[in-house]
Amino acid sequence: MRHVHFAVLLGFAVFTSALPSRFTRQNDDSSPKNAKVLILGGGVTGVIAARTLHEKGIDDFLIVEARDQLGGRMQNYTIGVPGKQYTVEVGPNWIQGTQTGNGTANPILTLARKHDVKNQYNDLDGSITTYDYNGFNDYRDLLNTSIDQFTQTGVVAGERVKTQQVDLSLQSAYGIIGATPKNLYESACQYYEVDWSPDQTSWIASAWNTNFTFDTDMGGFSDENNLCIDQRGFKTIIQAEAAEFIQPQQVSLNSVVASIEYSEDGATVTLTDGTTLTSDYVLCTFSLGVLQYGDVAFKPALPSWKMEAIQSMVMGTYTKIFLQFEEKFWFDTEMAVYADKERGRYPIWQNLDHVNFFPGSGLVFVTVTGDFSLRIEAMEDSDVQAEVMEVLRAMYPTTTVPDPVAFHFKRWHADPLFRGSYSNWPPSFLPGHSENLKATVDQRLWFAGEATSLKYFGFLHGAYYEGLHAGEEIAKCIAGGGCAGMQHEDYVVDAEPYPFVSITP
Ligand SMILES: Cc1cc2nc3c(=O)[nH]c(=O)nc-3n(C[C@H](O)[C@H](O)[C@H](O)COP(=O)(O)OP(=O)(O)OC[C@H]3O[C@@H](n4cnc5c(N)ncnc54)[C@H](O)[C@@H]3O)c2cc1C
Ligand SMILES: *[C@@H]1O[C@H](CO)[C@@H](O)[C@H](O)[C@H]1NC(C)=O
Ligand SMILES: *[C@@H]1O[C@H](CO)[C@@H](O)[C@H](O)[C@H]1NC(C)=O
Ligand SMILES: *[C@@H]1O[C@H](CO)[C@@H](O)[C@H](O)[C@H]1NC(C)=O
Ligand SMILES: *[C@@H]1O[C@H](CO)[C@@H](O)[C@H](O)[C@H]1NC(C)=O
Repeated sequence: MRHVHFAVLLGFAVFTSALPSRFTRQNDDSSPKNAKVLILGGGVTGVIAARTLHEKGIDDFLIVEARDQLGGRMQNYTIGVPGKQYTVEVGPNWIQGTQTGNGTANPILTLARKHDVKNQYNDLDGSITTYDYNGFNDYRDLLNTSIDQFTQTGVVAGERVKTQQVDLSLQSAYGIIGATPKNLYESACQYYEVDWSPDQTSWIASAWNTNFTFDTDMGGFSDENNLCIDQRGFKTIIQAEAAEFIQPQQVSLNSVVASIEYSEDGATVTLTDGTTLTSDYVLCTFSLGVLQYGDVAFKPALPSWKMEAIQSMVMGTYTKIFLQFEEKFWFDTEMAVYADKERGRYPIWQNLDHVNFFPGSGLVFVTVTGDFSLRIEAMEDSDVQAEVMEVLRAMYPTTTVPDPVAFHFKRWHADPLFRGSYSNWPPSFLPGHSENLKATVDQRLWFAGEATSLKYFGFLHGAYYEGLHAGEEIAKCIAGGGCAGMQHEDYVVDAEPYPFVSITP
């Protein structure tokens, strides 16, 4: 068998040289396979699944990860001129929903507390300045209206669930409650409530997703968001957690999976360098985007119910564009909204040079999503920077706005290890599809990730709970000497199309 090179980042130290450079597991009779469980992907889901197996006494697992470190989408970047450098988060930066009193804490908050990862309340709705293409323009009253309208769509979604009406898109919901944006200001305010989770959003699932995280009456943590400002990076929560239980030989970094062969007897995973790894069970935690793109080959091809589940959920893209200036010339609030004639053109701004975050840093960032993200991913950095500067200069018509001293954004959609930023539930995606997305194939091939979470899809805590659940189920399966795995439905059934229409030529 070919060699697997280990380089494990445990906590904050890379001690590659101290580790065995070869995959040395013996192929003896009692354990003829490389591992009982291969965990594909070392993001939050993979690491928490591994921790769960470990807690259940199963240490015969191997995490296979393409990158040189654990953390997955939790990725930071060091930006800034010499002497003024800061760690910023190109992936997730918020703990969304924290804790109310002694209620259930978001498990991501619990990890941050445990590993002393610094985070700070971010006042998204209260600390905000509003602009248009002629400069400052106070339309915060419209923002308040927009918050109320979004809440109302959630309440009416609850009514639809009770009366068993079909799902519709969130855009339809705005029309039904009479809240269709009528000008660019209302449009920008609606964007601030809705487009952070991109287009093609289900009305009901979006209400659930919001309620289960932010509404304590529905089991949510709290309605607050905390911004991670730890200079070691937000990923520290998961790397420090991994360092507590993972042994070097349980992780294979820089290992890109090319194919997954599975049968009722087990699985064989082949890496791009030709290495093969065998196991009784394989847990695939790759992003929905990776599965949709077919970057990894499944042998045999995945059954049609699984393909339908994968292709019927949406992988959205969310892009954070960071800029550093010699000094701050912008708003003093934490957030700002910019209303352009074109909806979605550099609309949401976050002030990192704020007393609560990185005062004196000269840092600000702007977020775009969806098609606009794909558009700028195809452009040169310098062209994106020129557009962003045009917007900033429009926001500050009487200020001489200099060029930035540093500029950076990550192209999440183009990255073959992610193919987007996080999943989004469209109106045509049904709970049965969600069940099928995480269902086991041939008892041996298991799936988990933020996208398989019915309640918290998209979020870090969604990934956390899915890793926990998959770990528990696989552990039960191993303890029982095998199992059928998580069940699927062969056909996801909903309304019959055109049942009463007789088509006559
Ligand atoms: C820009 C952005 C902003 C976000 N903001 C927030 C936020 O503020 N709050 C929040 O709660 N969530 C946020 N999220 C979502 C959050 O990051 C995800 O829900 C979570 O990180 C998903 O974890 P995961 O383990 O399911 O998947 P991943 O982190 O994607 O883990 C899968 C792993 O598989 C690896 N992999 C892929 N292909 C291969 C291959 N062929 N071979 C080997 N390994 C492979 C990848 O490298 C990766 O490490 C954001 C995401 C992005 C991108
Ligand atoms: C992430 O942050 C760490 C700690 O500050 C730093 O060492 C590392 O270089 C950063 N990563 C990137 C890609 O900038
Ligand atoms: C939380 O629990 C602690 C200890 O059990 C108690 O002292 C405290 O009053 C509780 N706080 C709230 C807000 O309920
Ligand atoms: C918006 O709502 C907040 C909180 O209810 C309130 O404090 C603020 O005054 C409102 N702003 C405007 C402009 O109506
Ligand atoms: C969301 O929460 C609101 C307020 O608690 C509730 O009225 C509504 O029914 C909930 N919506 C759904 C879809 O559960």
